Amino acid sequence: MQLNLFDTEDIQPQDNPLQEKDEIFALRKELEEANYKYYVLSQPTLSDREFDLKMRRLQDLEAKHPELADKNSPTQHVGSDLSRKNGFRQMEHKRPMLSLANTYSEQEIREWYERVCKDISFKPDIVCELKYDGLSISLIYENGTLVHALTRGDGTRGDDVIDNVKTIPAIPWKIDNSPLTNFEIRGEILLPWESFERLNKEREEQEEPLFANPRNAASGTLKLQDPRIVAKRGLDAYLYYLLADKLPQDTHYGCLQVARQMGFKVSDAIRVCHSIDQIMQFISFWDTERRNLPVATDGIVLKVNDLSLQQQLGYTAKTPRWAIAYKFPAEKQLTLLKKITYQVGRTGVVTPVANLEPVQLSGTTVQRATLHNEDFIRQLGIREGDMVWVKKGGEIIPKITGKEERKESLIETDSENGHNGLSSFHFITHCPECGAMLIRDPNEAAWRCPNEDGCPPQKKGKVEHFVARKAMNIDGLGSETIDLFFEKGRLGNIADLYDLKQDDILALEGFQQKATQNILDGIEASKQVPWPRVLFALGIRYVGETTAKKLARRFTSVDALKEASTECLTQVEDVGVQIAESIHAYFGKQANLDIIERLRKAGVRLQADEQQAQPSSDRLKGQTVVISGTFLHHSRDEYKELIELHGGKNTGSVSKKTSFILAGDNMGPQKLEKARQLGVRIVAEDEFLRLIVES
Ligand code: IVH
Repeated sequence: MQLNLFDTEDIQPQDNPLQEKDEIFALRKELEEANYKYYVLSQPTLSDREFDLKMRRLQDLEAKHPELADKNSPTQHVGSDLSRKNGFRQMEHKRPMLSLANTYSEQEIREWYERVCKDISFKPDIVCELKYDGLSISLIYENGTLVHALTRGDGTRGDDVIDNVKTIPAIPWKIDNSPLTNFEIRGEILLPWESFERLNKEREEQEEPLFANPRNAASGTLKLQDPRIVAKRGLDAYLYYLLADKLPQDTHYGCLQVARQMGFKVSDAIRVCHSIDQIMQFISFWDTERRNLPVATDGIVLKVNDLSLQQQLGYTAKTPRWAIAYKFPAEKQLTLLKKITYQVGRTGVVTPVANLEPVQLSGTTVQRATLHNEDFIRQLGIREGDMVWVKKGGEIIPKITGKEERKESLIETDSENGHNGLSSFHFITHCPECGAMLIRDPNEAAWRCPNEDGCPPQKKGKVEHFVARKAMNIDGLGSETIDLFFEKGRLGNIADLYDLKQDDILALEGFQQKATQNILDGIEASKQVPWPRVLFALGIRYVGETTAKKLARRFTSVDALKEASTECLTQVEDVGVQIAESIHAYFGKQANLDIIERLRKAGVRLQADEQQAQPSSDRLKGQTVVISGTFLHHSRDEYKELIELHGGKNTGSVSKKTSFILAGDNMGPQKLEKARQLGVRIVAEDEFLRLIVES
């Protein structure tokens, strides 16, 4: 298995020096941002492989252009997870926490081994270990007691997350009868697959954003301020690196055995290899076997075993020369596409879904994957009965990336659409839920069921949207409960919610007094939800949360909105003809007008509350404001709203068009630098508040 690093469509090497210069700057910026999103926000934007490929490309380009060397380049320092103002004490690492050189190529592993052999003039023992995919931690013990637990931070300083780390059962707080009392041990904090899936399930139910993978979940968890929540999440830790002024053994392997005896969780999947063949055997064995592990791994780490040889080989600026990581390619499996089924969403969009012969991928069983839309299926040229490649990288949702060419179909399909696996692919023509004929706007990729008021998933979807947290925030009504209410004829649309009686709910199986009261209280409380959120909750096509806020500011009641002409509507920022038409279409339907009247009668706020209306002005008219940092008096969202309320516009990045930056504490260093370069004014929080309040 050998991978050419540039065998993907991800990055195309170029040779023009001018383009290369631009590419260097662009890659530095992109990697710096990716580091921040990954380490500080725990929300990666690039997969590991993409990140590594881009980093490698940047290293190659920088080597080719030494005149563009920059000590601030991401190739020269490790990513930083130092959160700003996060409430953790920061501490200097006694010994810097470096990263590892890594490769996806077995050939490069051989080359590393040969280089090491050459440098020390013989074949040293190499310890092979699993590369755990979590976040690194440095545990500091003094007199046998755990006194600090530092994240990697920027490699020099880390956050002390000891209170959270102490919740991990695998980490001893005190070591008794040990040959070592003052030492540091490093390892990886992980969220096992099982806990990760449980956590995401809970988050899905609570409508919270899901974690992309166990590593991000572990990192997000470790930065929580409440150790009680951390304890419930079920973190685990593997330790792999013992450090002390005087170590008890003169080999890495020996030290790990001591660490295990001291009570640390040290993996059994460690082997001292005496040749490159043994190293390759270890890699290929664990490439498959790792699928049976309870935690995520993304490669193999190779370390020179003898500690004095490690010293002799030394370090580069970022990584030790005595170690390297081999990273497994993104997991890919070939499996049978048994059937394409279709899912109808809240807005009527029909999404094709691949139903697969179940396969194990990155620790989970995959049996379904989205096929997005008709064009996607055509581009890949896949049909039912094909063998398709399913890939799962750092993401939760598996992707179908292609098919295996073959002569004939493996299964006979007799789908209701009258085609079999051998014929060319046809998207369904009628809604699988209600039978209506599907329509497709020539400018859109999606087929849609137009039967908004009669198609069950659309009807239920409207209620689900209405009760969601960001809309009417009615507790206790999850999608399963809504399904049940529909099934029993208790609900048909959003207005029916306000007619629900205690006895109606109690009569349903599984509803006790408490759950029933919870729902009724939620419905009652929803009558206090302000008009902008009610407008969003109505679920008018294209009217999302932000558009609803802007519309509600201009049209202070449902009646005003109903009467508004296209011309008036399109005067509202971000509202174009498409949205205006959608609003007209909504109010053009008698069924919707009936629902609105019933909501009005129930006491739902269909107009702005005079007293609560925020004062507005045009003091920021024509001004574009960037928000950066953390604030004392309002949240960032509230500042965004205030800017818009006073006629300004909020954008994400600093440019020539930026009028000023509303800066809180710890403003992002990139934004600060950019502001300096462009001479953009920086306005502090209090100054901003005076600006919008004083006349
Ligand atoms: S040794 C100086 N061993 O991989 C080298 N690291 O890409 C110290 N990692 O920051 C690291 N499993 O967070 C080592 N068995 C293992 C590892 C491992 C995972 C992580 C670690 C490190 C990163 C480098």
